[in-house]
Amino acid sequence: MSDQRFPQLPPGFRFGTSTASYQIEGAATEDGKGPSIWDTFAHTPGKIIDGSTGDVACDHYHRHDEDVALMKQLGTRGYRFSISWPRIQPTGSGAANAKGLDFYDRLIDSLLASGQQPMATLYHWDLPQALEDDGGWLNRSTIDRFADYAAILGERFADRVEHWIPINEPNVVSMMGYSIGFHAPGKVLMFDGLPVAHHLNVAHGRAAIALRAAGAASVGCANNHAPMWPASDDAADVGATKLFDAMWNGMFLEPMLLGRYPVDLQPLLEDVIKDGDLATIRQPLDFYGVNYYNPMRIGAAPEDAEMPFEFRELLGYPTTDFGWPIVPDALREWLIMFRARFRAALPPIMITESGCAYNMGPDANGVVDDQQRIDYLDAHLRAIATAIERGVDVRGYYTWSLMDNFEWSEGFTQRFGLVHIDYDTLVRTPKRSFQWYADMIAAQPAHD
Ligand code: NOJ
Repeated sequence: MSDQRFPQLPPGFRFGTSTASYQIEGAATEDGKGPSIWDTFAHTPGKIIDGSTGDVACDHYHRHDEDVALMKQLGTRGYRFSISWPRIQPTGSGAANAKGLDFYDRLIDSLLASGQQPMATLYHWDLPQALEDDGGWLNRSTIDRFADYAAILGERFADRVEHWIPINEPNVVSMMGYSIGFHAPGKVLMFDGLPVAHHLNVAHGRAAIALRAAGAASVGCANNHAPMWPASDDAADVGATKLFDAMWNGMFLEPMLLGRYPVDLQPLLEDVIKDGDLATIRQPLDFYGVNYYNPMRIGAAPEDAEMPFEFRELLGYPTTDFGWPIVPDALREWLIMFRARFRAALPPIMITESGCAYNMGPDANGVVDDQQRIDYLDAHLRAIATAIERGVDVRGYYTWSLMDNFEWSEGFTQRFGLVHIDYDTLVRTPKRSFQWYADMIAAQPAHD
Protein backbone atom coordinates (compact mmCIF):
# COMPACT_ATOMS: atom_id res chain seq x y z
CA MET A 1 0.00 0.00 0.00
CA SER A 2 1.38 3.40 -0.87
CA ASP A 3 1.57 5.99 1.90
CA GLN A 4 -0.85 8.75 0.84
CA ARG A 5 0.55 11.19 3.40
CA PHE A 6 3.47 11.77 1.04
CA PRO A 7 3.89 12.41 -2.69
CA GLN A 8 4.68 9.15 -4.48
CA LEU A 9 7.40 9.16 -7.11
CA PRO A 10 8.23 6.20 -9.33
CA PRO A 11 10.67 3.48 -8.24
CA GLY A 12 14.24 4.56 -8.89
CA PHE A 13 13.44 8.28 -8.58
CA ARG A 14 16.47 10.09 -7.15
CA PHE A 15 16.13 12.43 -4.14
CA GLY A 16 18.95 14.80 -3.32
CA THR A 17 19.95 18.21 -2.05
CA SER A 18 21.81 21.03 -3.77
CA THR A 19 24.40 23.67 -2.78
CA ALA A 20 27.13 25.85 -4.35
CA SER A 21 30.74 26.57 -3.40
CA TYR A 22 30.70 30.31 -2.69
CA GLN A 23 27.40 30.04 -0.84
CA ILE A 24 28.60 27.45 1.71
CA GLU A 25 32.36 26.83 1.75
CA GLY A 26 33.97 29.88 3.36
CA ALA A 27 37.77 29.45 3.64
CA ALA A 28 38.01 32.25 1.09
CA THR A 29 41.80 32.55 1.15
CA GLU A 30 42.85 29.11 2.37
CA ASP A 31 45.07 26.48 0.78
CA GLY A 32 46.02 28.61 -2.18
CA LYS A 33 42.54 29.65 -3.31
CA GLY A 34 42.58 32.77 -5.49
CA PRO A 35 39.95 35.52 -5.33
CA SER A 36 36.77 35.18 -7.37
CA ILE A 37 34.46 37.88 -8.68
CA TRP A 38 32.13 37.12 -5.78
CA ASP A 39 34.89 37.79 -3.24
CA THR A 40 35.44 41.15 -4.90
CA PHE A 41 31.75 41.96 -5.28
CA ALA A 42 30.76 40.99 -1.74
CA HIS A 43 33.60 43.10 -0.33
CA THR A 44 32.41 46.13 -2.30
CA PRO A 45 30.31 48.31 0.03
CA GLY A 46 26.64 48.50 -0.88
CA LYS A 47 26.48 45.38 -3.03
CA ILE A 48 25.17 42.90 -0.43
CA ILE A 49 22.01 43.87 1.41
CA ASP A 50 23.29 43.00 4.92
CA GLY A 51 26.96 43.78 4.25
CA SER A 52 27.91 40.10 4.60
CA THR A 53 30.38 38.09 2.51
CA GLY A 54 31.09 34.42 1.80
CA ASP A 55 34.42 34.59 3.67
CA VAL A 56 33.13 32.06 6.23
CA ALA A 57 29.57 31.31 5.05
CA CYS A 58 28.67 27.86 6.49
CA ASP A 59 32.36 26.95 6.91
CA HIS A 60 31.60 23.82 4.91
CA TYR A 61 35.26 23.68 3.87
CA HIS A 62 36.10 22.59 7.41
CA ARG A 63 32.79 21.00 8.39
CA HIS A 64 31.97 18.91 5.34
CA ASP A 65 32.03 15.68 7.32
CA GLU A 66 29.26 16.99 9.56
CA ASP A 67 27.29 18.06 6.47
CA VAL A 68 27.69 14.71 4.75
CA ALA A 69 26.52 13.02 7.97
CA LEU A 70 23.36 15.16 7.75
CA MET A 71 22.76 13.91 4.20
CA LYS A 72 23.07 10.36 5.42
CA GLN A 73 20.52 11.09 8.13
CA LEU A 74 18.18 12.49 5.45
CA GLY A 75 18.42 9.31 3.42
CA THR A 76 19.10 11.12 0.15
CA ARG A 77 21.07 9.29 -2.52
CA GLY A 78 22.37 12.31 -4.41
CA TYR A 79 24.15 15.55 -3.61
CA ARG A 80 24.67 18.43 -6.01
CA PHE A 81 27.57 20.77 -5.19
CA SER A 82 29.83 23.06 -7.15
CA ILE A 83 33.58 23.23 -7.50
CA SER A 84 35.25 26.57 -6.90
CA TRP A 85 37.27 27.39 -10.01
CA PRO A 86 39.74 29.66 -8.11
CA ARG A 87 40.47 26.83 -5.64
CA ILE A 88 41.56 24.68 -8.58
CA GLN A 89 43.21 27.40 -10.68
CA PRO A 90 43.76 30.47 -8.49
CA THR A 91 44.09 32.81 -11.49
CA GLY A 92 41.89 30.81 -13.86
CA SER A 93 44.66 29.27 -15.95
CA GLY A 94 47.76 27.14 -15.66
CA ALA A 95 48.66 24.31 -13.32
CA ALA A 96 46.12 22.98 -10.86
CA ASN A 97 46.43 23.78 -7.15
CA ALA A 98 46.93 20.40 -5.48
CA LYS A 99 45.30 21.45 -2.22
CA GLY A 100 42.18 22.57 -4.05
CA LEU A 101 41.87 19.23 -5.82
CA ASP A 102 42.50 17.43 -2.51
CA PHE A 103 39.56 19.15 -0.86
CA TYR A 104 37.12 17.89 -3.49
CA ASP A 105 38.75 14.46 -3.34
CA ARG A 106 37.97 14.29 0.37
CA LEU A 107 34.44 15.55 -0.19
CA ILE A 108 33.68 13.11 -3.03
CA ASP A 109 35.09 10.14 -1.14
CA SER A 110 33.09 10.95 1.95
CA LEU A 111 29.93 11.39 -0.13
CA LEU A 112 30.40 7.99 -1.74
CA ALA A 113 31.13 6.37 1.61
CA SER A 114 27.81 7.77 2.87
CA GLY A 115 25.75 6.58 -0.07
CA GLN A 116 25.51 9.98 -1.83
CA GLN A 117 26.12 10.02 -5.58
CA PRO A 118 27.99 13.24 -6.45
CA MET A 119 26.56 15.67 -9.01
CA ALA A 120 29.24 18.29 -9.65
CA THR A 121 28.73 21.76 -11.14
CA LEU A 122 31.88 23.29 -12.64
CA TYR A 123 30.74 26.89 -12.55
CA HIS A 124 28.28 28.25 -10.02
CA TRP A 125 29.28 31.87 -10.54
CA ASP A 126 32.68 32.19 -8.79
CA LEU A 127 34.84 33.20 -11.77
CA PRO A 128 38.53 33.73 -10.92
CA GLN A 129 38.98 37.49 -10.56
CA ALA A 130 42.08 37.41 -12.79
CA LEU A 131 39.90 36.28 -15.71
CA GLU A 132 37.39 39.04 -15.06
CA ASP A 133 40.27 41.52 -15.14
CA ASP A 134 40.75 40.38 -18.74
CA GLY A 135 37.07 40.88 -19.59
CA GLY A 136 35.55 37.79 -17.98
CA TRP A 137 32.76 36.16 -19.96
CA LEU A 138 32.77 39.08 -22.42
CA ASN A 139 36.17 37.84 -23.58
CA ARG A 140 35.92 34.83 -25.87
CA SER A 141 39.20 33.39 -24.58
CA THR A 142 37.51 32.62 -21.23
CA ILE A 143 35.91 29.71 -23.14
CA ASP A 144 39.36 28.15 -23.68
CA ARG A 145 40.25 28.67 -20.02
CA PHE A 146 36.98 26.96 -19.02
CA ALA A 147 37.64 23.97 -21.30
CA ASP A 148 41.11 23.54 -19.71
CA TYR A 149 39.57 23.70 -16.24
CA ALA A 150 36.93 21.12 -17.24
CA ALA A 151 39.67 18.78 -18.47
CA ILE A 152 41.52 19.05 -15.13
CA LEU A 153 38.35 18.16 -13.21
CA GLY A 154 37.40 15.36 -15.58
CA GLU A 155 40.80 13.73 -15.31
CA ARG A 156 40.78 13.83 -11.54
CA PHE A 157 37.14 13.07 -10.70
CA ALA A 158 35.37 11.40 -13.64
CA ASP A 159 35.91 8.00 -12.04
CA ARG A 160 33.74 8.98 -9.05
CA VAL A 161 31.34 11.77 -10.05
CA GLU A 162 28.05 10.40 -11.37
CA HIS A 163 26.63 13.54 -13.02
CA TRP A 164 28.32 16.68 -14.35
CA ILE A 165 26.89 20.15 -14.97
CA PRO A 166 29.19 22.64 -16.73
CA ILE A 167 27.39 25.91 -15.90
CA ASN A 168 24.67 26.72 -13.40
CA GLU A 169 21.94 29.06 -14.68
CA PRO A 170 23.80 30.78 -17.53
CA ASN A 171 20.81 33.12 -17.98
CA VAL A 172 21.32 34.49 -14.47
CA VAL A 173 25.07 34.88 -15.04
CA SER A 174 24.50 36.86 -18.20
CA MET A 175 21.52 38.93 -17.16
CA MET A 176 22.17 39.58 -13.49
CA GLY A 177 25.96 39.76 -13.78
CA TYR A 178 26.53 41.60 -17.05
CA SER A 179 23.24 43.19 -18.17
CA ILE A 180 21.77 44.69 -15.00
CA GLY A 181 24.73 44.34 -12.62
CA PHE A 182 22.80 43.04 -9.64
CA HIS A 183 25.29 40.14 -9.32
CA ALA A 184 29.06 39.94 -9.73
CA PRO A 185 30.86 41.28 -11.69
CA GLY A 186 28.27 44.07 -11.49
CA LYS A 187 28.37 45.22 -15.12
CA VAL A 188 25.40 47.21 -16.43
CA LEU A 189 25.62 46.60 -20.16
CA MET A 190 21.98 45.86 -20.99
CA PHE A 191 21.85 44.35 -24.53
CA ASP A 192 25.60 44.88 -24.93
CA GLY A 193 26.01 42.08 -22.38
CA LEU A 194 24.56 39.55 -24.84
CA PRO A 195 27.94 38.20 -26.05
CA VAL A 196 28.28 36.78 -22.53
CA ALA A 197 25.29 34.54 -23.15
CA HIS A 198 26.81 33.14 -26.34
CA HIS A 199 30.22 32.63 -24.74
CA LEU A 200 28.58 30.76 -21.86
CA ASN A 201 26.79 28.54 -24.36
CA VAL A 202 30.00 27.70 -26.21
CA ALA A 203 31.78 27.17 -22.87
CA HIS A 204 29.06 24.68 -21.92
CA GLY A 205 29.69 22.73 -25.15
CA ARG A 206 33.47 22.81 -24.86
CA ALA A 207 33.32 21.65 -21.23
CA ALA A 208 30.97 18.80 -22.15
CA ILE A 209 33.44 17.67 -24.82
CA ALA A 210 36.40 17.89 -22.39
CA LEU A 211 34.54 16.03 -19.64
CA ARG A 212 33.51 13.22 -21.99
CA ALA A 213 37.06 12.94 -23.34
CA ALA A 214 38.17 12.41 -19.72
CA GLY A 215 35.64 9.62 -19.25
CA ALA A 216 32.67 11.43 -17.65
CA ALA A 217 29.64 9.17 -17.83
CA SER A 218 26.82 11.67 -17.59
CA VAL A 219 26.88 15.33 -18.62
CA GLY A 220 23.85 17.62 -18.43
CA CYS A 221 23.00 21.20 -17.58
CA ALA A 222 21.18 23.26 -14.92
CA ASN A 223 19.06 25.90 -16.60
CA ASN A 224 16.70 28.14 -14.70
CA HIS A 225 13.25 28.12 -16.23
CA ALA A 226 10.35 30.37 -15.37
CA PRO A 227 6.97 30.21 -17.12
CA MET A 228 6.37 33.72 -18.53
CA TRP A 229 2.89 35.17 -18.13
CA PRO A 230 1.92 38.39 -19.92
CA ALA A 231 0.59 41.11 -17.61
CA SER A 232 -2.49 41.47 -19.86
CA ASP A 233 -3.71 40.30 -23.26
CA ASP A 234 -2.73 43.65 -24.72
CA ALA A 235 -0.49 43.06 -27.77
CA ALA A 236 2.37 45.13 -26.29
CA ASP A 237 2.47 43.04 -23.10
CA VAL A 238 2.24 39.81 -25.08
CA GLY A 239 5.08 40.88 -27.39
CA ALA A 240 7.31 41.98 -24.49
CA THR A 241 6.64 38.65 -22.76
CA LYS A 242 7.62 36.70 -25.89
CA LEU A 243 10.91 38.57 -26.15
CA PHE A 244 11.74 38.12 -22.49
CA ASP A 245 10.76 34.44 -22.69
CA ALA A 246 13.26 34.01 -25.54
CA MET A 247 15.98 35.71 -23.51
CA TRP A 248 15.32 33.91 -20.23
CA ASN A 249 14.13 30.46 -21.30
CA GLY A 250 15.12 30.10 -24.94
CA MET A 251 18.63 31.60 -25.07
CA PHE A 252 20.31 28.50 -23.62
CA LEU A 253 17.67 25.81 -24.04
CA GLU A 254 17.32 26.13 -27.82
CA PRO A 255 21.02 26.12 -28.76
CA MET A 256 21.65 23.22 -26.36
CA LEU A 257 18.79 21.07 -27.65
CA LEU A 258 18.26 22.31 -31.21
CA GLY A 259 21.52 23.98 -32.21
CA ARG A 260 19.99 27.37 -32.97
CA TYR A 261 18.94 30.55 -31.17
CA PRO A 262 15.33 31.69 -30.83
CA VAL A 263 14.50 33.71 -33.97
CA ASP A 264 13.94 36.95 -32.04
CA LEU A 265 17.51 36.82 -30.74
CA GLN A 266 19.34 35.81 -33.91
CA PRO A 267 19.85 39.38 -35.23
CA LEU A 268 21.25 40.45 -31.86
CA LEU A 269 23.86 37.70 -31.85
CA GLU A 270 24.93 37.40 -35.48
CA ASP A 271 28.21 39.30 -35.03
CA VAL A 272 29.20 37.18 -32.05
CA ILE A 273 28.59 33.68 -33.42
CA LYS A 274 31.59 32.08 -35.13
CA ASP A 275 31.58 29.16 -37.55
CA GLY A 276 31.07 25.88 -35.76
CA ASP A 277 29.81 27.45 -32.51
CA LEU A 278 26.26 26.17 -32.79
CA ALA A 279 27.45 22.61 -33.37
CA THR A 280 29.78 22.92 -30.38
CA ILE A 281 26.95 24.06 -28.13
CA ARG A 282 24.63 21.24 -29.18
CA GLN A 283 26.35 18.38 -27.40
CA PRO A 284 24.28 15.31 -26.56
CA LEU A 285 23.00 15.70 -23.00
CA ASP A 286 22.52 12.74 -20.66
CA PHE A 287 20.02 14.74 -18.62
CA TYR A 288 18.39 18.14 -18.77
CA GLY A 289 18.55 19.92 -15.40
CA VAL A 290 15.76 22.34 -14.54
CA ASN A 291 16.02 24.86 -11.71
CA TYR A 292 12.45 25.98 -10.99
CA TYR A 293 11.24 28.59 -8.53
CA ASN A 294 8.24 30.52 -9.87
CA PRO A 295 6.49 31.96 -12.92
CA MET A 296 7.09 35.62 -13.83
CA ARG A 297 4.59 38.26 -14.96
CA ILE A 298 5.92 40.49 -17.72
CA GLY A 299 4.66 43.72 -19.27
CA ALA A 300 5.82 46.16 -21.94
CA ALA A 301 8.14 48.86 -20.58
CA PRO A 302 7.66 52.57 -21.37
CA GLU A 303 9.16 53.74 -24.69
CA ASP A 304 12.19 55.41 -23.11
CA ALA A 305 13.18 52.44 -20.91
CA GLU A 306 16.52 50.69 -21.55
CA MET A 307 14.89 47.27 -21.84
CA PRO A 308 11.57 46.76 -23.67
CA PHE A 309 10.08 44.53 -20.95
CA GLU A 310 9.51 44.95 -17.23
CA PHE A 311 8.54 42.76 -14.27
CA ARG A 312 5.07 43.12 -12.81
CA GLU A 313 3.90 41.76 -9.50
CA LEU A 314 2.18 38.38 -9.76
CA LEU A 315 -0.81 38.81 -7.46
CA GLY A 316 -3.22 36.22 -6.13
CA TYR A 317 -0.73 33.60 -4.91
CA PRO A 318 0.83 32.95 -1.52
CA THR A 319 4.47 34.03 -1.37
CA THR A 320 7.65 32.86 0.37
CA ASP A 321 9.51 35.19 2.76
CA PHE A 322 11.47 36.34 -0.29
CA GLY A 323 8.19 37.47 -1.84
CA TRP A 324 8.35 34.84 -4.59
CA PRO A 325 4.91 33.49 -5.63
CA ILE A 326 4.25 29.82 -4.89
CA VAL A 327 2.75 28.18 -7.99
CA PRO A 328 3.42 24.42 -8.12
CA ASP A 329 0.85 24.01 -10.93
CA ALA A 330 3.06 26.16 -13.12
CA LEU A 331 5.89 23.65 -12.72
CA ARG A 332 3.59 20.78 -13.73
CA GLU A 333 2.28 22.67 -16.76
CA TRP A 334 5.75 23.82 -17.79
CA LEU A 335 7.11 20.25 -17.69
CA ILE A 336 4.20 18.96 -19.77
CA MET A 337 4.65 21.78 -22.29
CA PHE A 338 8.42 21.18 -22.41
CA ARG A 339 8.00 17.53 -23.31
CA ALA A 340 5.28 18.22 -25.85
CA ARG A 341 7.46 20.81 -27.56
CA PHE A 342 10.84 19.04 -27.64
CA ARG A 343 9.91 15.33 -27.50
CA ALA A 344 12.76 13.37 -29.12
CA ALA A 345 15.29 16.17 -28.57
CA LEU A 346 14.73 16.03 -24.81
CA PRO A 347 16.83 13.78 -22.56
CA PRO A 348 15.53 12.68 -19.13
CA ILE A 349 14.86 15.66 -16.84
CA MET A 350 16.36 16.21 -13.40
CA ILE A 351 15.02 18.95 -11.16
CA THR A 352 18.43 20.29 -10.17
CA GLU A 353 16.98 22.97 -7.87
CA SER A 354 13.62 23.74 -6.28
CA GLY A 355 13.01 25.30 -2.91
CA CYS A 356 11.88 28.32 -0.93
CA ALA A 357 13.10 30.94 1.54
CA TYR A 358 11.47 30.99 4.97
CA ASN A 359 13.47 32.76 7.60
CA MET A 360 12.27 31.49 10.99
CA GLY A 361 14.90 30.35 13.50
CA PRO A 362 14.79 27.94 16.44
CA ASP A 363 11.96 28.53 18.98
CA ALA A 364 12.36 28.32 22.78
CA ASN A 365 12.61 24.54 22.50
CA GLY A 366 15.20 24.70 19.74
CA VAL A 367 12.69 23.60 17.08
CA VAL A 368 12.67 25.31 13.67
CA ASP A 369 9.03 24.97 12.74
CA ASP A 370 8.97 25.57 8.96
CA GLN A 371 5.65 24.00 8.06
CA GLN A 372 5.51 26.31 5.00
CA ARG A 373 8.61 24.64 3.54
CA ILE A 374 7.04 21.23 4.08
CA ASP A 375 3.92 22.41 2.24
CA TYR A 376 6.06 23.83 -0.56
CA LEU A 377 8.05 20.63 -1.06
CA ASP A 378 4.94 18.47 -0.81
CA ALA A 379 3.07 20.52 -3.43
CA HIS A 380 6.00 20.67 -5.87
CA LEU A 381 6.72 16.95 -5.60
CA ARG A 382 3.03 16.19 -6.22
CA ALA A 383 3.15 18.48 -9.28
CA ILE A 384 6.13 16.51 -10.58
CA ALA A 385 4.41 13.19 -9.87
CA THR A 386 1.44 14.33 -11.97
CA ALA A 387 3.73 15.46 -14.81
CA ILE A 388 5.35 12.01 -14.74
CA GLU A 389 1.91 10.37 -14.96
CA ARG A 390 1.34 12.56 -18.03
CA GLY A 391 4.44 11.08 -19.66
CA VAL A 392 7.22 13.53 -18.70
CA ASP A 393 10.44 11.67 -17.93
CA VAL A 394 11.60 13.29 -14.65
CA ARG A 395 14.22 11.22 -12.86
CA GLY A 396 15.19 13.20 -9.77
CA TYR A 397 14.64 16.12 -7.41
CA TYR A 398 17.55 17.97 -5.76
CA THR A 399 16.05 20.48 -3.36
CA TRP A 400 17.64 23.87 -2.83
CA SER A 401 19.12 23.71 -0.32
CA LEU A 402 20.67 21.31 2.15
CA MET A 403 21.34 24.21 4.52
CA ASP A 404 20.83 27.95 4.84
CA ASN A 405 23.59 29.78 2.99
CA PHE A 406 24.86 33.02 1.43
CA GLU A 407 22.04 34.09 -0.88
CA TRP A 408 24.13 36.29 -3.20
CA SER A 409 23.05 39.96 -3.06
CA GLU A 410 20.63 39.09 -0.26
CA GLY A 411 23.50 37.91 1.95
CA PHE A 412 22.28 35.84 4.89
CA THR A 413 18.80 37.36 4.95
CA GLN A 414 17.08 34.60 2.94
CA ARG A 415 17.14 31.05 4.31
CA PHE A 416 16.51 28.20 1.86
CA GLY A 417 17.85 25.28 3.93
CA LEU A 418 16.44 22.07 5.38
CA VAL A 419 19.10 22.73 8.02
CA HIS A 420 19.26 26.01 9.94
CA ILE A 421 22.66 27.68 10.26
CA ASP A 422 23.49 29.97 13.17
CA TYR A 423 26.00 32.25 11.45
CA ASP A 424 27.60 33.27 14.78
CA THR A 425 28.26 29.77 16.10
CA LEU A 426 27.95 27.79 12.82
CA VAL A 427 25.74 25.33 14.69
CA ARG A 428 23.60 23.24 12.35
CA THR A 429 19.99 22.56 13.40
CA PRO A 430 17.84 20.33 11.20
CA LYS A 431 14.44 21.98 10.68
CA ARG A 432 11.07 20.21 10.74
CA SER A 433 11.25 20.11 6.94
CA PHE A 434 14.44 18.04 7.25
CA GLN A 435 12.53 15.34 9.14
CA TRP A 436 9.68 15.58 6.65
CA TYR A 437 12.05 15.12 3.69
CA ALA A 438 13.62 12.09 5.42
CA ASP A 439 10.17 10.59 6.17
CA MET A 440 8.97 11.28 2.63
CA ILE A 441 12.02 9.54 1.15
CA ALA A 442 11.60 6.59 3.48
CA ALA A 443 7.93 6.29 2.45
CA GLN A 444 8.70 5.82 -1.25
CA PRO A 445 7.98 2.36 -2.65
CA ALA A 446 11.58 1.94 -3.79
CA HIS A 447 13.89 4.83 -4.33
CA ASP A 448 17.34 5.28 -5.71
C1 NOJ B 1 19.36 29.59 -8.03
C2 NOJ B 1 20.83 29.57 -7.79
O1 NOJ B 1 21.43 28.57 -8.55
C3 NOJ B 1 21.20 29.46 -6.34
O2 NOJ B 1 22.56 29.76 -6.22
C4 NOJ B 1 20.34 30.36 -5.50
O3 NOJ B 1 20.72 30.40 -4.16
C5 NOJ B 1 18.90 29.90 -5.62
N1 NOJ B 1 18.49 30.02 -7.01
C6 NOJ B 1 17.90 30.71 -4.80
O4 NOJ B 1 17.87 32.01 -5.27
